Amino acid sequence: MIKIGILLGSTRPGRRGEQVATWVHQRASHRTDAEFELIDLRDHPLPHLDEPTPALLSQGRYEHEHTRAWSATIASCDGFVMVTPEYNQSIPGVLKNAIDYLYAEWNNKAAGFVSYGVVGGARAVAQLRLICGALRMADVAPQVTLPLLTEFEDHTVFTPSAESVAALDTLLDHVVAWSTALAPLRAAGPVAVAAT
Ligand SMILES: Cc1cc2nc3c(=O)[nH]c(=O)nc-3n(C[C@H](O)[C@H](O)[C@H](O)COP(=O)(O)O)c2cc1C
Repeated sequence: MIKIGILLGSTRPGRRGEQVATWVHQRASHRTDAEFELIDLRDHPLPHLDEPTPALLSQGRYEHEHTRAWSATIASCDGFVMVTPEYNQSIPGVLKNAIDYLYAEWNNKAAGFVSYGVVGGARAVAQLRLICGALRMADVAPQVTLPLLTEFEDHTVFTPSAESVAALDTLLDHVVAWSTALAPLRAAGPVAVAAT
């Protein structure tokens, strides 16, 4: 059974992200083709990247326990749904920092994106796709985009539309399928380090 991590990319007090990630997790948990784990960056309070060697080169030899714990969490997953808000037309710094900590742990895994924000977060996802490409991830095309005006009552309480539920199901179909299809590549071992 493959395992998909649902990565909650916001840690802000009062964050809307928790409602969105919980919805993704609950909806996904009805499926029988994969298991799903909610990964909350609040449970991994990583400092600004403090490993002396970039993960691309360190081959899993990490200096800090917080990196080893984060590495184990991400390594245990075969694919991801990244739940991100849009901050200044990009992703939150805390999410980028957490991504930058690792390299091989992301390789040859699928990624799907659920975004939210005043205008839905599509610009954050566009940047996240570039980041995932650098990490040798396979980003699926279907995505879920949640504008505060239409998907949150009073901009506060998350009330997903039927269209968003359907879009999430499609996204999950693709993430599970690609995570499964990429298993032979993951089994072949780490990808060769090349100029990025
Ligand atoms: C620093 C910051 C910058 C933001 N920039 C944008 C933006 O560029 N576009 C947008 O649609 N919403 C933007 N927003 C609104 C957020 O997407 C919205 O508040 C969302 O709920 C934030 O996620 P969170 O509640 O999980 O932290 C911004 C919010 C913050 C805090």
